[in-house]
Amino acid sequence: MSTAIPQTMKAIVEDQQANWVTLKDNIPVPTPGDNEVLVKVEYADQNPGDWKVASWISLDGALQGCDYAGTIVKLGSNLKSDLKVGDTVAGMITGGIRNDRGAFAEYLVVESDLTYRVPKELKLEGAPTFGAAWLTASQVLLKSQGHSLSSPIDGSKWYIVYGGSSSVGLFALQIARALGYKVLTFASPHSFDLVKSYGAHEVINYRDGDAIEQALKITNSEAVYAFDTISEGDSFKIASAALGSKGKQLNVINPPPEGFKDKIGNVELQHTVVYTLLGKDLNFSPRTPESPMIIPAVQDHYEFGKEVLKKTPEWITKYGFKANPIELRHGLEAIPQGLQDQKDGKISGKKVVYKIA
Ligand SMILES: NC(=O)c1ccc[n+]([C@@H]2O[C@H](COP(=O)([O-])OP(=O)(O)OC[C@H]3O[C@@H](n4cnc5c(N)ncnc54)[C@H](OP(=O)(O)O)[C@@H]3O)[C@@H](O)[C@H]2O)c1
Repeated sequence: MSTAIPQTMKAIVEDQQANWVTLKDNIPVPTPGDNEVLVKVEYADQNPGDWKVASWISLDGALQGCDYAGTIVKLGSNLKSDLKVGDTVAGMITGGIRNDRGAFAEYLVVESDLTYRVPKELKLEGAPTFGAAWLTASQVLLKSQGHSLSSPIDGSKWYIVYGGSSSVGLFALQIARALGYKVLTFASPHSFDLVKSYGAHEVINYRDGDAIEQALKITNSEAVYAFDTISEGDSFKIASAALGSKGKQLNVINPPPEGFKDKIGNVELQHTVVYTLLGKDLNFSPRTPESPMIIPAVQDHYEFGKEVLKKTPEWITKYGFKANPIELRHGLEAIPQGLQDQKDGKISGKKVVYKIA
């Protein structure tokens, strides 16, 4: 790959009039600043958050895309890590918010201590999947719920991952398994083999009318933690009820319906937002400044974010964590349709990854 850096690049940006994304080809290549590196993006993947941000949040011209993998082609000043030109890195940035950074682009800038070196066990095309989904699962299991990979728990305990075939779910299954849990999940029958191959001991069809009773029978009503990786529709009800009488904490990643908290008794409800790992306030209301919605930076989460990214290569090697199964599509021009497919619910049990360079 050539390291000659052009002045402009192609990127997927917000077209607010269409309320969707479009490909543009005259976007300035960003310049890496303090503690930043410039990455030539080779692969990017899509998350449901990408189409949601494009439809609900972005202003005209905002660069889209969060998850990336590529090669460092230029260093900024005062780096807080030992990254070098030529290193392959991957991770997550906040797409859809700024006009000068997004993963659906030929180049992006990222803080040198908020990216991870891709280990040799991981193919570069799978590396972007260790982005938002991986960080969300790590944040829930290892931060919010206080587990530690270095102190596995008693292997007779059950952990509930609601939605094991989702991108976040496939990472949650693997982390729960590495922690020593027996893992119960809910998925469609067509994904039963998939979730078992990612760590589930037992799986229940989430559409079964008696899904909750099946779960309580399997766990003897003794599960303490549940992670609802879907956090939509009936998922809140099923995940909370599946905890049973010993339930201590339910973690969700979309806001639950009003009044839900009052219905789950002593179970603590935690709503996790992965962007708090990146250490900056995030304005989720640029279209409606009159009713601001700011996700504030949380220092403690930022420290965790840096730590987990630093440890990601080591953990992939040590615990054998696997990337999501991927469907490879080609070029930035494929992204608007890909996001539409995700919005239409056509992506199941896999991650759509784009080859950019
Ligand atoms: N708060 C945060 O920081 C954060 C971070 C990441 C993601 N999220 C949100 O978390 C959700 C999941 O994200 P993701 O990237 O993991 O999604 P994803 O991979 O696109 O999820 C699709 C998968 O979910 C399964 N699924 C859909 N509805 C289900 C249900 N009711 N019960 C069980 N499984 C179901 C689908 O299986 P079938 O096709 O078989 O139904 C499919 O395999 C999204 O809403 C996303 O926006 C939030």
